[in-house]
Amino acid sequence: MQIAIINGPNLNLLGKRETDIYGNEDFDSFFARLESQYDQLDLSYYQSNSEGEIVSKIQELGFGVDGIILNPAAYSHTSIAIRDAISSIKAPVLEVHISNIYARGAFRNHSHVSAVSVGVISGLGLKGYILALDYFSNQ
Ligand code: DQA
Repeated sequence: MQIAIINGPNLNLLGKRETDIYGNEDFDSFFARLESQYDQLDLSYYQSNSEGEIVSKIQELGFGVDGIILNPAAYSHTSIAIRDAISSIKAPVLEVHISNIYARGAFRNHSHVSAVSVGVISGLGLKGYILALDYFSNQ
């Protein structure tokens, strides 16, 4: 089973960025742990700070993989283009946020991506990605 993780802007700074909110672990070492824990899955990881690159990656992967775990970061709250990309592909998308987007101010309360995702995990830290993998691998 092929599962892709796509992270949006500023998530390349995990481990350095607002550690009180996002924690101390960088995503590369977290992803290495995921790969060894889920060696029965074919996992890939992509991060971009650019909206267009995220759209292109969703298009590229969306007809081949079995599921996409997507943290669009700030683009969740602004991007119709990412929403439309999700609507255009075959693979189911599960939206993940490390922090609780409902507890951090009104401008983060709405995600354009949620309505076209199979579900949303928000506020459970990096564990959200593990729960998302469990969802896809136990289908
Ligand atoms: C985030 C939440 C977003 O509101 C924020 O812009 C991010 C990260 C999260 O994972 O908690 O960059 O998606």
